[in-house]
Amino acid sequence: MGRVAGKVAFVTGAGRGQGRSHAIALAREGAKIVATDVASGTLPDVVYPIASRADLEETARLVREIGGEIVIGEADVRDRAAIDAVVQQGLDAFGFIDVVVANAGVFTWGAARDLSWTDWHTVIDINLHGTWNAVQSTLPSMIDRGKGGSIMMTASQIATRGQSNAVAYAASKAGIVGMMRALAVELAPHSIRVNTIHPSTVYTEMILNEPVYRVFRPDLENPTKEDMDGELYPFHMLRLAALECEDVSNAVLYLASDESRYVTSIKLPVDAGSTQKLG
Ligand SMILES: NC(=O)c1ccc[n+]([C@@H]2O[C@H](COP(=O)([O-])OP(=O)(O)OC[C@H]3O[C@@H](n4cnc5c(N)ncnc54)[C@H](O)[C@@H]3O)[C@@H](O)[C@H]2O)c1
Repeated sequence: MGRVAGKVAFVTGAGRGQGRSHAIALAREGAKIVATDVASGTLPDVVYPIASRADLEETARLVREIGGEIVIGEADVRDRAAIDAVVQQGLDAFGFIDVVVANAGVFTWGAARDLSWTDWHTVIDINLHGTWNAVQSTLPSMIDRGKGGSIMMTASQIATRGQSNAVAYAASKAGIVGMMRALAVELAPHSIRVNTIHPSTVYTEMILNEPVYRVFRPDLENPTKEDMDGELYPFHMLRLAALECEDVSNAVLYLASDESRYVTSIKLPVDAGSTQKLG
C-alpha cells in the first residue's frame, strides 16, 4: 500500500526539477497526478531557460514508466483561465483533487536600487499570484467534496532569512507564508491542511546556470558550479552545497500523506540547518 494511495495530486512547475521529482515520488507512492507547467522554454524577464513541452511530456513518461497515472496540461500559473482548464482536466480524469503542490516559480536577482518594475512584477506575479491561482482553482471542488485535503506551497529559505539582491523573490516567498497561515485557519474546518516548504539551495536548472554562478562569484570571469558550491557550503550546518530534488520530495510526500494528518500551518524547512545558523 503506497503512502499516498487513493489521492490525486495537482503539481505545478512539473516540467522538470523539483516539480517533476514530486510528481514521480507521489506517483510511486500511489497518487494519481495532474501535472502542469508553462512549458514554453523561455519566459520574458527570466534569464535562464525554463521547462519545455518536451520536458513536461518527459515527466508524464517517467510517471507512466513506474505504473503511475497522469494527465498533463500546459498553463502559465499567471493565467487563471488556463490553470482552471488543467484543474478541470484533472477532475474529469480522476474525479477529485485532494493534494496540491504549488511549486512553480522563478528566481531573479538584482540590487534593490536598480531593480526595474518589470523585474519586480514578474517575480511577484509568477511566484505569489501564480501560487494563489493554483491553490484557489482547486478549492471549490476540494471543499465541496468534504473529504479534506493537503495543500503545500514551495517557499524558500529566503522567506525567513535575509538575502541581498533578492528583494522581489524574498517578498514573493514571504507572501506565500502569509497566504498559507490565513488559508490554514480558514480551511481547517474543512479538514484541509495548508503548509509551506522551505528548501535551501537545490540542484535544479534554476541555479545550475552561469548567470547564477556569477551571482555567487561576481569576482570571476567564468565562474563554475564548483565556484558556486564553495560559497554555498558555509550557509548550511550539515556538510552540503545544495539539496537534491528527492530531499524536497520526501517532505512533499510526508505532507501529502496521512502521516501528517494533524500537521497544518507549518513552515517546513528542508535546509540542512541553514536558517538556524549564525555565521
Ligand atoms: N532551486 C533552488 O535552489 C530553490 C531553492 C528554494 C526554493 N526553490 C523553489 O522551488 C520551486 C521549484 O523550482 P526548481 O528548483 O525545481 O527550479 P526549476 O526552474 O527547475 O523549476 C521551476 C518550474 O516552474 C516552471 N515555471 C516557471 N514559471 C512558470 C509559470 N509562469 N507558469 C508555470 N510554470 C512555470 C518552470 O518551467 C519549471 O518547470 C520554485 O518555486 C523555486 O522558487 C528553489
